[in-house]
Amino acid sequence: MSDNILEIRDLHVSFDMRHGERIYAVRGIDLEVKRGEVLALVGESGSGKSVTGKAVLGILPPSASITSGSIKYNGEELTELKCDGYNRIRGSEISMVPQDPFLSLDPIAPVGAQIAESIRKHDTGGRIGREERRRGALELMREVGIAAAEERYGDHPFRLSGGQRQRIAIAAALAPSPRLLICDEPTTALDVTIEAQILGLFERLKRQRALSMLFITHDLGVVARMADRVAVMYAGRIVEIGEVDEIFYEPRHPYTWSLLSSVPSGSGGRLRIIPGYVPDMRDPPIGDAFAPRSEWAMRIDHLAHPPFFDISPTHRVASWLYHKNAPRAEMPSELRELIAARLEERRRFLMENGSDKERCEEG
Ligand SMILES: Nc1ncnc2c1ncn2[C@@H]1O[C@H](COP(=O)(O)OP(=O)(O)O)[C@@H](O)[C@H]1O
Ligand SMILES: [Mg+2]
Repeated sequence: MSDNILEIRDLHVSFDMRHGERIYAVRGIDLEVKRGEVLALVGESGSGKSVTGKAVLGILPPSASITSGSIKYNGEELTELKCDGYNRIRGSEISMVPQDPFLSLDPIAPVGAQIAESIRKHDTGGRIGREERRRGALELMREVGIAAAEERYGDHPFRLSGGQRQRIAIAAALAPSPRLLICDEPTTALDVTIEAQILGLFERLKRQRALSMLFITHDLGVVARMADRVAVMYAGRIVEIGEVDEIFYEPRHPYTWSLLSSVPSGSGGRLRIIPGYVPDMRDPPIGDAFAPRSEWAMRIDHLAHPPFFDISPTHRVASWLYHKNAPRAEMPSELRELIAARLEERRRFLMENGSDKERCEEG
């Protein structure tokens, strides 16, 4: 059995709009999620993260098509599946935690019943009786940290806080015991304290259920806490991929430098925003799509799309800066200082607390 639960190869997704316009949302990405790992997919809004997640789940809108490429779950090709094949995989094998549970939960049904319904829907043999579904739903509510689950069972979504609603959405996603969870900005709608608790919950679920996750977010703070590996996406392509420490402490792509420079630092506010705009995906730039916004751009960046260069066995970057004939590229000195400060912070934290994992306990 392969190490990878999910393998995406050279995936292209585009939208056909009226007037013959085409939006090239995903332009040839390669990704794999290994068993039991959290792969974070990061990038600014519009970079193609959600479209990638929807392609895996088979829930792209009718205007979208996978024009080429392959998506394999456990070795099985998903892009060739018909409706019923997808229904078998979606939910029971791959499940989704949405950004806004208000949109995914039914406003007029009690939350417990919605989880019980999720159990029923995936019980293809019809073996689980009504009372057993209710017990299963209550157990899931407790597992995701809903206090006094019996009392909450009959509540409607609007009666619950944002954090509790997200816990219910997570419970509903877990009901069919999926092995791969796709989380699309699952904490973006929450305030910081609640976000920390929900991230702690994901961390615990990953450990206890041996879940694999494709964790989509624009927030590098979330990535640092959750991810084993990170893929940085820009204009429909992966520009850099590596283990979380490689991306945070040894970033190579000018876009990753910009993203990291704009993360709030421990001591102060955002350092800077990334100048310029994400490209118009109806007419994506030739070459390195970030070149028009990059002070490191060379002539070739405007002419040809860069291949991947290996930085380590686990770290790859798509930038001409790492071609053997390119001038040596240095990250901005302010980012270098910021990284040095973060490393120092982490060193001190590890001295005081012993283990990296303790950061991740639920609040
Ligand atoms: N339903 C849609 N119709 C047309 N274009 C879309 C649709 N959904 C997404 N896109 C386009 O696809 C690109 C990627 O979008 P998306 O994956 O949602 O970005 P992200 O999740 O990274 O913010 C964007 O250019 C966006 O405008
Ligand atoms: Mg999105």
